[in-house]
Amino acid sequence: MPTATKPIYSGKAKDIFETDDSDVLRAYFRDSATAFNAQKKGEIHGKGKVNATISALLFTLVEKNGIKTHFIKQISDNELLVKRVQIIPLEVIVRNIAAGSLCKRLGIKEGKVLKTPIVEFSYKNDELGDPLLTRAYIKNALEIADDKTLDYITEVTLKANEIFKDFFLKNEIKVVDFKLEYGTDKDGNLLLADELSPDNFRFWDAKTNEKLDKDRFRQDLGNVEGAYQEILKRVKSGIQDSAKPQHTSTQAHQHTSTSAHKHFNIKVQVLPKKDILDPQGQAVEKALISLGYKDVRDLKIGKEIVFKVSADSELKAKSQVKEMCEKLLANPVIEDYLIEIK
Ligand SMILES: Nc1ncnc2c1ncn2[C@@H]1O[C@H](COP(=O)(O)OP(=O)(O)O)[C@@H](O)[C@H]1O
Ligand SMILES: [Mg+2]
Repeated sequence: MPTATKPIYSGKAKDIFETDDSDVLRAYFRDSATAFNAQKKGEIHGKGKVNATISALLFTLVEKNGIKTHFIKQISDNELLVKRVQIIPLEVIVRNIAAGSLCKRLGIKEGKVLKTPIVEFSYKNDELGDPLLTRAYIKNALEIADDKTLDYITEVTLKANEIFKDFFLKNEIKVVDFKLEYGTDKDGNLLLADELSPDNFRFWDAKTNEKLDKDRFRQDLGNVEGAYQEILKRVKSGIQDSAKPQHTSTQAHQHTSTSAHKHFNIKVQVLPKKDILDPQGQAVEKALISLGYKDVRDLKIGKEIVFKVSADSELKAKSQVKEMCEKLLANPVIEDYLIEIK
């Protein structure tokens, strides 16, 4: 329980207290829930404890993967000790699948898998309703971050996205989108801050697409507590699994020097896009027709590229290959590519 001292800040979900150490704060996670910019208010029984615990586990997970965060330790069910930072008033949002405000803004159907993950910035300002920002707004109107900082935040955020997607998929959960906050500590280090919980993530069950996050509260879908507990259960078991040795004894022999210990056979098929002129294909089509194969149409000539990659998961291998296609193997402006991975 919070002590009698007054919080230095009481937000929509947490109370922030000072400690004996001026560089360290105590974040108390409450059960209170808000949505639609605090127009809808309620309580999700047990949420504070679940969110504090999930945050602690996920901060530890990203720290292990080289991302610097404000997290120090969990000191009780509902409380984390964190490094004091000056929060940059940006909501840094990553999207893998269309949902929420993206659908509303663009008229896209919920569930569309986005071509690549999208990072966007909103102004963390409840009075203004957290408006979407452009880089120019951030740099030249608000003056809250420069290009270098935004590039760094984008890079760290995309890295965190890969870590989360990989971790959650292993536990049968799709990471649809999430919101991060960053801040600078007294030495000027940029740290991932705030919380990592189902309040700030959209999680869907990988098999059923059942919503396991705050959308259950926003949309009155019922069993909100159950969904939060389910995420905690899967995060805990995922962390336990990832702590187990990952390889068999023979694999350990062969690959002691690298963590990327699974091999994948990759086949990439590259073809000209539907409406792109393909003179070679047209010539072959004409030749076939003149040989008497009159029913031939829509012939395209492309290429097939095969190779092997090592990565610690199929998801990571796939995202690497996708990157290779975008950068080199295909020309995404005029060519489509299909990745087969075994
Ligand atoms: N390490 C930190 N140092 C200072 N402030 C932080 C830190 N981590 C999170 N905060 C801030 O604590 C506040 C309380 O959290 P929350 O209740 O979620 O507030 P909000 O209503 O602003 O979302 C947030 O404004 C958040 O930016
Ligand atoms: Mg918040």
